[in-house]
Amino acid sequence: MPIQFRAEVLDVRKSGAYSVLSVTAAGMPELARPGHFVTVSIGGEESSMLLRRAFAIYQVKSRGVYGGTLEIVVGVEGKGSKWLSERRRHDILDIVGPLGRPFILPKERVPCVLVAGGYGSAGMFMLAEQLRDRGCRVDVVMGASVESKLFGVLEMKRASSKLIITTEDGSAGEQGRVTDVLGSVIDKSEAAVVYACGPMGMLSAVAGIAAEHRAYSQCSVEEAMACGIGVCMTCVLPVIGPDGVTRMVRSCVEGPVFRGDRVRWSDVGTIPADVFGAPVVEES
Ligand SMILES: Cc1cc2nc3c(=O)[nH]c(=O)nc-3n(C[C@H](O)[C@H](O)[C@H](O)COP(=O)(O)OP(=O)(O)OC[C@H]3O[C@@H](n4cnc5c(N)ncnc54)[C@H](O)[C@@H]3O)c2cc1C
Ligand code: FES
Repeated sequence: MPIQFRAEVLDVRKSGAYSVLSVTAAGMPELARPGHFVTVSIGGEESSMLLRRAFAIYQVKSRGVYGGTLEIVVGVEGKGSKWLSERRRHDILDIVGPLGRPFILPKERVPCVLVAGGYGSAGMFMLAEQLRDRGCRVDVVMGASVESKLFGVLEMKRASSKLIITTEDGSAGEQGRVTDVLGSVIDKSEAAVVYACGPMGMLSAVAGIAAEHRAYSQCSVEEAMACGIGVCMTCVLPVIGPDGVTRMVRSCVEGPVFRGDRVRWSDVGTIPADVFGAPVVEES
């Protein structure tokens, strides 16, 4: 069960294009799993920005002087994330989490590939650590448009068995996209599972490449969210169930992690006519 808590900002540091916020979070770290996210109330008590904003859980520590801490990585997109990136030590935030369904970890010691686009790496560090603790080989592919939009390169080097970097402008690593190198990384490592987090276009391509190379994929989607707790249906996307029927599924509670081969990527943002419960259009 998620909890709602008042969090004191302990530290805000810059990392490339991102701000990393470290806050108190007593009771929350014990509940957090890789792939979970939190939502943060924005703008203070008088704010007209009513909707909470979602952020992946980057790091948690359950012990220490503060009795538990949480770290999130904030890239500035609009007003809410800008406000958050401007918080300072001792500011108070209202946070709910952990939310969503986490990544499923393999029972066997199978090789895994992690793919992260931009700040999508934030939720991958805990995952890499836990996979390696289970004896899995963990190859990581991190990509971004430019070097400053990569997050946590040195840390990921330590957390992974091998790290491959791509940038679209060639400012770091290989020039190109994560999808340009993914096929050969899966083949070389003989990966059984591919975990991915990043923009929808990237996830769609990653799921396709994983399937071509006979790997099972789990993708953490970033569908726009409003309530974050399953009430408003803002975050739905078409997902094929085990019975072969497509349903509009809430990414905040049934996700954000989905099997890559189950999401109808090309229909995201629409309600396909064959989806369960879709409105029937009568011919006149
Ligand atoms: C599960 C999940 C995990 C995320 N993790 C991170 C993270 O670790 N670091 C990070 O920087 N960002 C993350 N995001 C994206 C972040 O939530 C948005 O950038 C942020 O909500 C934008 O708010 P804003 O007020 O700055 O922008 P605005 O564009 O003004 O936001 C307006 C509304 O649109 C929604 N929205 C806008 N862009 C997005 C988006 N890309 N994804 C989802 N909702 C959006 C917001 O919730 C808000 O209600 C995550 C999103 C989700 C759903
Ligand atoms: S964001 Fe409201 S149901 Fe998912």
